[in-house]
Formats: sequence, structure tokens, C-alpha cells
Amino acid sequence: MSSQNVYILGIESSCDDTSASILCNGTVLSNVVATQKIHEQYGGVVPELASRAHQQNIVPVIDQAIKQANIDKSDLSAIAFTSGPGLMGSLLVGTSFAKSLALALDIPLIDVNHMQAHILAHFIDEDEFEKPDFPFLALTISGGHTQIVRVNDHFDMEIIGETIDDAVGEAFDKSAKILGLTYPGGPLIDKHARSGNPKAFPFTKPRVDGLNFSFSGLKTGILYFVQKQVKEDPNFIKENLEDVCASIQYTIINILMDKLKKASKETGIKSIAIGGGVSANSGIRKALKEGEHKYGWKTFVPKFEYTTDNAAMIGIVGYLKYLKKDFTDMDVVAKARSKF
Ligand code: KG4
Ligand code: ZN
Repeated sequence: MSSQNVYILGIESSCDDTSASILCNGTVLSNVVATQKIHEQYGGVVPELASRAHQQNIVPVIDQAIKQANIDKSDLSAIAFTSGPGLMGSLLVGTSFAKSLALALDIPLIDVNHMQAHILAHFIDEDEFEKPDFPFLALTISGGHTQIVRVNDHFDMEIIGETIDDAVGEAFDKSAKILGLTYPGGPLIDKHARSGNPKAFPFTKPRVDGLNFSFSGLKTGILYFVQKQVKEDPNFIKENLEDVCASIQYTIINILMDKLKKASKETGIKSIAIGGGVSANSGIRKALKEGEHKYGWKTFVPKFEYTTDNAAMIGIVGYLKYLKKDFTDMDVVAKARSKF
């Protein structure tokens, strides 16, 4: 192995996925994700159970990532880990493990902001995936966040719009719960929406100033609508599931696209990248592509496996920080609400 190569171990444990990844320079050698199934039966992530599952998974997941990458622990140049934002009990597992391993191997430790990582996932070296030029706008849409970020450089980012209540992923998951679908419901709404009529049931879009978002009113609107319909016809959900899902997805995508159009117009930036779990949604991917013809945008959608929570995105931030020698002290603490 060349001594020029930089090997980064990325560790992600902010919510309900335990993930470890090895990167050689900007290329992913392995990206192992253990998704916690335990939360399905509760209809949402139970923090206490999440930290316990991370505790069980972290060693096997890291072991597997190292084996799949075909390297030895002693080859590692640095360890990068998610320090926030996320669930405290979950973050602590990854943070403590990363610190101990970095100390044992006597290599640098690098802390990574989870939301920044969703954006910088676009800088992973992948054939056929172009990296965005600066400046660009990033729409980060996940179960915990909804943000429009102006990205001037890798580590020069400014949040220009964000949700004032629920995140867009929550809007998908809570709507799915109302329809009796299992957690996480976003992918299921996406699946059922494919064969439905998006204009079957018009839901009201919220009015929010500037580039900010709101999703809690929509969720309540959907709840009242479904309750009323089920009262009149107990089979309503079963008979209209595709149309209801398509209409919910259509409304959510319109809300996102309206603000993205506004942000692009106000900033004059036409390079648009998306990231976060909800960017796996087929409808938002399609709407974004249409933006290329309609508004002259250049759009960037990450490889599917780097959209939902994963450690490869933590590893790429680790690599970019490694190049700047931006290392973290051993007294670093996890931060549930960290900003970048
Ligand atoms: O980024 P992520 O994996 O975790 C957080 O940091 O939150 O995002 C998870 C969210 C969940 O709300 C999930 O329902 C949503 O992403 N999601 C989707 C799709 N795939 C995942 N929402 C809509 N359509 C999808 N295809
Ligand atoms: Zn995430």
C-alpha cells in the first residue's frame, strides 16, 4: 500500500442506523449499514432502544467495514465520527467508540456534523456522479431536518431556509402512520404514490414567510381529512391508498419546489444538490430533473446508498478535514443540536 493513501474510518450513529465505512482518499472501499428494525413496531424511533442497538451493532459493523475494505486497522490514517445533531444516547455510542479507537491506534480524531455530511456526500468519488461546483444550493431533507443551504465552499455553508416545526421526513412518516403504514413510512408513501392520482385530493399548502418551511399544519390537515372520510366510509383508506399517497407526496414536493425556486431566484444560483433520506423519494428526484429544463438548473442527486444515513458521508467529510489537518481534541462531546 502506498504511504500516500489516506484511509479514513467513518462512523455514523446519530439516529437509528449504525454505520461504518472505510474510504481510501475520496473513494469508498466499504459502507456497512445496520438498520434497526426494532422501531417499526413502535411507529417511530425509540431513543432508549436506539442507543442499546447501537451498542450491540457498533463493533460488528466496524469489523465488517474493515474486512470488506481489505485493510488492517493499523492502515487507518484517522477516525471520523458524527458528533451531532441527533439523539444524544445514539451519538454517545459512536463518539465514545471513535475516541477509544483513535486513542488506541494513536491516530487523529475528526468530528463531523451530520447535516454537513449529507451535503458533502456529493464529494465522494463515484464514476458517473459529477461533483457540484461552488457556490451551489443544497436542499437537505431528512427525518430530522429540512434546510436550504447556500454552500460557498466545503466548510463555508449558510442555512438560508429551514423548517419552523416538523421536518419533511416527519411529514411523510406521520402521514403514513395516519394511513396505518409501518415506520418509516416515507418509502411506502413513495411506493403507493407511483400508481395514484396526485390531484385526487387537494391538500392545503402552508403560507410561510421567506425560505422557511412548515409541515405541521399539513399533517393536521391530512389527519382531519382521513378521519372524516373514514367516518363516512370505513374502507376509504383501503380503496384510495394510492390516490391519497400520491396527493400527499404531490403536496409535499410542491412545498419543497416552491421554496427551492424562490431560493434560486433570490441567490441567482442555478446549481442545486439534494441530500438526506427524503432525497431517495422518486417524486422529488423527478421534479428536480424537470427543473433542469424549466429553470435552467444543473441538479445533483447522490447515489442512492448515500442519501439515507450512512457512514461513507461521514468518511468523506473526515477526508476533507484530514487534508486541512482539522483534527478534534479528545475532550470533544456529542451535541444533540449542533449547528454548522
Ligand atoms: O437521512 P435519514 O436516513 O435519517 C435522518 O437523518 O433523519 O432520513 C430518514 C427519513 C425518514 O423520514 C424516511 O421516511 C425518509 O427519510 N425517506 C423517504 C424515502 N426514503 C426515506 N421519504 C420519502 N420517500 C422516500 N423514498
Ligand atoms: Zn440524516
